[in-house]
Amino acid sequence: MKHTPSSLTHNNSVAEAVLEGLQRQPKALPSWLFYDARGDHIFQDIMRMPEYYLTDCEYELFQTHKQVLLSRFSAGVDAFRIVELGAGDGLKTEVLLQHFVSQKAALSYTPVDISGAVLAQLKTRLQASVPQLDIQALQADFLQSLTMLETPPDTRQVILFLGANIGNFSLPKAATFLQRIRQQMGAKDLLMVGFDLKKDPRLIQLAYDDPHGITRSFNLNLLVRLNGELGANFQLDKFSHYPCYDPVSGAAKSYLVSQRPQTVQIEALDRSFSFAQWELIHTEISQKYDLPMIEALAENAQLEIQEVFYDCKHYFCNVIFAGKSSA
Ligand code: AVJ
Repeated sequence: MKHTPSSLTHNNSVAEAVLEGLQRQPKALPSWLFYDARGDHIFQDIMRMPEYYLTDCEYELFQTHKQVLLSRFSAGVDAFRIVELGAGDGLKTEVLLQHFVSQKAALSYTPVDISGAVLAQLKTRLQASVPQLDIQALQADFLQSLTMLETPPDTRQVILFLGANIGNFSLPKAATFLQRIRQQMGAKDLLMVGFDLKKDPRLIQLAYDDPHGITRSFNLNLLVRLNGELGANFQLDKFSHYPCYDPVSGAAKSYLVSQRPQTVQIEALDRSFSFAQWELIHTEISQKYDLPMIEALAENAQLEIQEVFYDCKHYFCNVIFAGKSSA
C-alpha cells in the first residue's frame, strides 16, 4: 500500500515534478516522492506505531469479514481475478489471499505497481506464504493496467484499492480516478476501496503528528531525497513539519514550514528557490470520508455501493462497488 497517486504522475521524472511543485503558489511536492528506499522504511515504521490506527483497522476488518468477502467475490462466476492497485507490501491482502486459497477458490492475483522492485519483493513473499496462489504481477500505471488485462469469460475482475490510498487524492481527483476505473469495469466486475473515516479529530491529528517524530522524518525525508538525488541543499533543521486536520472538510494536510527566509539551490534543476519565513511546502493530503461523501463519489462515477464493511470501532471501511447497470 504505497505511492498511490504516482499512477497519475510517475511519467514525470523526479526533477520535473519538483520543478513544477516548487513553482506553484503555495509551493508543493507530490506525496509519491515520499517513497524512496528510506521513505518505504519510514512508512513501515508508521504502520507499526499505535497512533496510526488505519493499518490495524483494515487488517482486523479483513480478518472479520474474509468469509463474506469471498462469497461476494465468487458469487455467480467460475473464477475471479484480484487486481490490486498499489499493492505495496501486501501484508493485509495476504489475510484475504490466504483465506481464499484455503477455501479452494478459483482465483488469481495481479498486484499492480509502477515499481518493479516492490512487485518482485511482494511476489517472493507471497510465493512463500501462499504457495498455491497464481500470481501475475503487472508493472504498470494503475489506470493503464486495467486496459492491459484480458479477462476470460466467466471470470470476474475484483479491483482493490486499499489502505486509504484514495485519501492521497483531493476529492475532485478521487472522483476522476473512480470514473476512470468505472470505464474499465465490465458488468460482473467489482471494485473494493478502503476509506479512512471521519472520527474524533484529535485521533486523526495524532495519526499524522505522532509523538515519536516518525511522521516528521517521513516528511523531512522528501528534502533528504532531493538533497541526494537532485543535489539540493535543503537544511533540514530550517524546515519544520506541520500536519493539520480540518474536521469540516475531512482533509488532513501536511506541510513543511520554512523557519526563516532562505534560498535553496537545486543543482539538477540549475536553479534556486527562495522561501519567505513561514512559507509552506504542501506535502500530502490524507482525505477522510463519511458515508454521504462516499455515496456522492459513487453516484458521480456511475457506481453502485454494494456493501460497506467496517472494523469494530468504525474508524475505517472497505466499500464494494459495482457498475450501475444503466451506465
Ligand atoms: C499510505 C496514503 C494511506 O495518507 O495515511 C501516513 C500515508 N502519510 N502517514 C496516509 C501517510 C503520513 C498514508 N497513505
